[in-house]
Parts: sequence; structure tokens; C-alpha cells
Amino acid sequence: MEFSIKSGSPEKQRTACVVVGVFEPRKLSLAAELVDNVSGHYLSDVIRRGDMDGKAGSTLLLHNVPSMLCDRVLLVGLGKEKDFRDKEYGAAIRTAIKTLNDTGASEATLFLTELAIKKRSVPWRIRQAAMAAEETVYRFDEFKSKKGEARRLRKLTLTIERRSELAVAEEALRQGKAIASGVELARRLGNLPGNVCTPSYLAETAQQMAVEHGLECQILDRTEMETLGMNSFLSVAKGSAQPPKLIVLHYKGAGTENTDKGARNKPVVLVGKGITFDSGGISLKPGADMDEMKFDMCGAAAVLGTLQTVAEMKLPLDLVAIVPTTENMPSGTACKPGDIVTSMSGQTIEVLNTDAEGRLILCDALTYAERFTPGTVIDVATLTGACVIALGHVATGLFANDEGLSRELAHAGDEALDRAWPMPLWDDYQDLLKSNFADMANIGGRAAGSVSAACFLSRFAKKFAWAHLDIAGTAWKSGADKGATGRPVPLLAHYLLKRAGKLG
Ligand code: BES
Ligand code: MN
Ligand code: ZN
Repeated sequence: MEFSIKSGSPEKQRTACVVVGVFEPRKLSLAAELVDNVSGHYLSDVIRRGDMDGKAGSTLLLHNVPSMLCDRVLLVGLGKEKDFRDKEYGAAIRTAIKTLNDTGASEATLFLTELAIKKRSVPWRIRQAAMAAEETVYRFDEFKSKKGEARRLRKLTLTIERRSELAVAEEALRQGKAIASGVELARRLGNLPGNVCTPSYLAETAQQMAVEHGLECQILDRTEMETLGMNSFLSVAKGSAQPPKLIVLHYKGAGTENTDKGARNKPVVLVGKGITFDSGGISLKPGADMDEMKFDMCGAAAVLGTLQTVAEMKLPLDLVAIVPTTENMPSGTACKPGDIVTSMSGQTIEVLNTDAEGRLILCDALTYAERFTPGTVIDVATLTGACVIALGHVATGLFANDEGLSRELAHAGDEALDRAWPMPLWDDYQDLLKSNFADMANIGGRAAGSVSAACFLSRFAKKFAWAHLDIAGTAWKSGADKGATGRPVPLLAHYLLKRAGKLG
């Protein structure tokens, strides 16, 4: 979608549609009041007749509103003014875009970005509006033989109250668009079926990104990983006919601006779980909903999406994406329960359940991350069903060996409306991973399943500040809206924006 920013009054807009908000019960927003005044109280009349009470989610499309230069006016219900917060704002934008898409309007001017929200600045409102708009018009129809109708809404103008805010708003718009583009990449990769989105496909995607954005890209194949001693990762790949890959994509932006030197100038490494299909392996999963295990590479997708966002924004920092990627399949050559493998770190692992494969590929990727002397390492993984039980589909599970990092990520999630919630990583839980035959087992039992998985990873993250985001409940939706969400690209993008000093 094409975006622009403007300040001005609604009655002067020569556009296909002007969008203004109405609070519940029947209270006009400032922009709606302006429309009402020039139109001889047309809106007040409509509202008095009971056609729009301002309930959240409601809309009313008006034609030929007197004295307006636009073709249509769209009223969007905002709910009660005192309850109008972050979430309600995002919902109002989405409702507006969805409705606009169903009208004949190919462009619109949105006055909703002028609505006051507690503690939220103009740049925040603009950034969120761009993200929410793109998210709403997204369709995944690559595999439909009849494509959906061509997108109706093509141009969106977002308004601000003061001209003096134009420069910061433009900057926020650029950020919002870049985040939306990272989210879109993550959603697309996530939605692609497992027979298309293989480890090789992810590697090719990374190589294309490298060409497009001038990044350094390295793809390690099985023999190179054998030489490095990544036997934990490779044990997961043993049952698959698809060759495993370790993708390393490096964005170098730190030299582009004179920011502070020191620890915060060291690269950030993002590690993404890239299981392109998780059958469970020999510890085979039950059949119901197994198709959703094509989404088991959503960590990888989010990491690549975030890298794209950062490259588009040209942030002044160094960022490395590491993606261990393979299928997890049963076969005569597959890893068996009871097998013992030696990880790249030298620590030995007894594989008691081949379905706990995410940690087996991530641990070697974490060890590999050491060579970048990172300031911070964040892994992103659809790691445990237990995390879905703990937090549902609302919050991403947040684990960290560094308090400051944990707080920064939780805060970034709040800012981005892509929240994560802290979970414990106390040593007390480490006993769950005891093995009679190796340094550790790869499972810790049903109780605290997401914590024992994080504890497992923590043993490979001793040399840096590290956080682990368990996105098992947030990376995709099931049911009628089945599809990848692109989370936690917004969270990661906000964290990196802040780190680069580009977030107000
Ligand atoms: N990819 C799954 C986790 C998962 C399951 C995410 C369902 C979202 C929905 C992961 O590889 C897995 O299978 N984990 C096991 C671990 C267990 C064997 C210790 C799980 O959560 O059941
Ligand atoms: Mn699994
Ligand atoms: Zn998995």
C-alpha cells in the first residue's frame, strides 16, 4: 500500500473517503465534529436517528455529505472514550481498513491517527497505523488457482494535527512500513507449505535478501556442520531426505553512524528455529492438526523478517541472523530415543524424545553464535506446547539470563503491541534435565515444560547476555483464521530501534 502523511481539516480533503471516529455513546471525535459543523450537522442527525452509536467495531459509510469535497465519509465506532487505549486504537484502524477494502474507494484519508491515546506519541500512532493497515490487507493466495480480487484500497493518507510534527511522523511512517514488510515476509514464509518451504528454500531466500540489501550471507551444509561438530543439530536431520542448512546472514550497519562505542556496539545475534516440518520424528506426533507443524519454522521466518526490517531502516547497528534449518522426520536412518549425541559445545545429550528437536538444533546454533562475540543473543522458537498452555495465544514466553535484557524485550513488546511475558529460569529447574547416561537429557517431563526447554538452551548461552522467546502460542493462528502472524517481528524491531536510538 502507498502511504502519505498530511495535516489539514477533513472538509478540505479531495479524496474517495474521509475516515473519522465516533465514541460511544454517540460522541463525535474532533475530526468528526469538524465534518459535522461544515455539513450542517449531518453527522449529528445520522447519529440521533440511531444509525451509529459509536460501539467499537461498528461502521457507517455515508455518501454525499454536504459541503465535503470527498466522495464518502466513513464513521468508525471507537467504544467509550475513557477506555480508548492501545488495543482499541489498533482495532479501530483494522476495522477502518477492512471496511474501506470492501467499498469502491481506492484511496482514503484516515483521521483516526489524530485520536489521543494515553502515553502514546504521534510517531507511535503513525507507526502502528501503518503496521495495522498492512496487516489487514495481507492475503496469502499464492496457491489459490483463482486469485482474490485485486486490492481495492491502494493509497492511504494518515493525518496529524500539527504541521510541525511532519518530520517525526514521516520517520515513524518509514519505520512502520519497514516493520510491516518484515512481518509480511515472516507471514509468507510461515504460510508456505512444507513441500515448498524446505531448508534449501529458506537458504535461497536468505541469499536473495543478501543480494537485495547488500548483506553477507553464508550457507553451511551438512559436511561443513559435521566438521564443526554440530552433532546435536545433525541428529535431527538424520531422518529427512531434505538436506539441512545453517543460514548465517549478516547486516553491518554499525559503521554508518557515530553512535556510542562499547558493549552496546557489539553485534546482536538472532537465532531462529527453522524446522520446516516437525513430524516428531521416531517419537511421532499424533495425526490431528499435524499440518500446523509446517509453522515450526516461524522462529526462522521472524528472524529473517526482522533482518529485512532492520536493513530497510538502515539502522546503525550490527545484526546477525543464524537459522539452523531441517525437517524432523521418522525413517530408518532417523535418530532414536535413547541415542546420545555430542553437541558442538562438547556437552553430551541423551535424546529421550525425538520430538523435543527444537532445542537440539538451537543449542549448536547458540554455540556457533559465540564466534561473533555478540553483545546480545536472542533466540526465537516455536519450542513447546507447554508454553501455549502457560500463556495461551496472547503473550510470547520470555526467558533470559540477563534482567536488563528481559526488561527491554518486555517493554519493546508493550510498545509494539506484540507482547512477551517473563518466565523463570531459576537453577532449581535445571535438575529436570538429569540423564543417567549423558550430561543432560533433551526433555524434562510434562511439568514446567517450557521452562525446562529454556533451561536446556541456557546451558549453551553462558558466554553472552541471552534471551529466549517461545512463540509456540503466538506465531500462528489455528481454526478459521489459520495462518502465520509474523510475531514477534514487531517486538524485535522495536527492541532494535530503541537500541539504535531511533525510537523517540
Ligand atoms: N514444535 C513443537 C512445539 C509445539 C507444539 C509448538 C505444538 C506449537 C504447538 C516442539 O518441537 C515439540 O514437539 N515440543 C514437544 C516437547 C516435548 C516432547 C518435551 C512438546 O511441546 O510437546
Ligand atoms: Mn517437536
Ligand atoms: Zn518443533
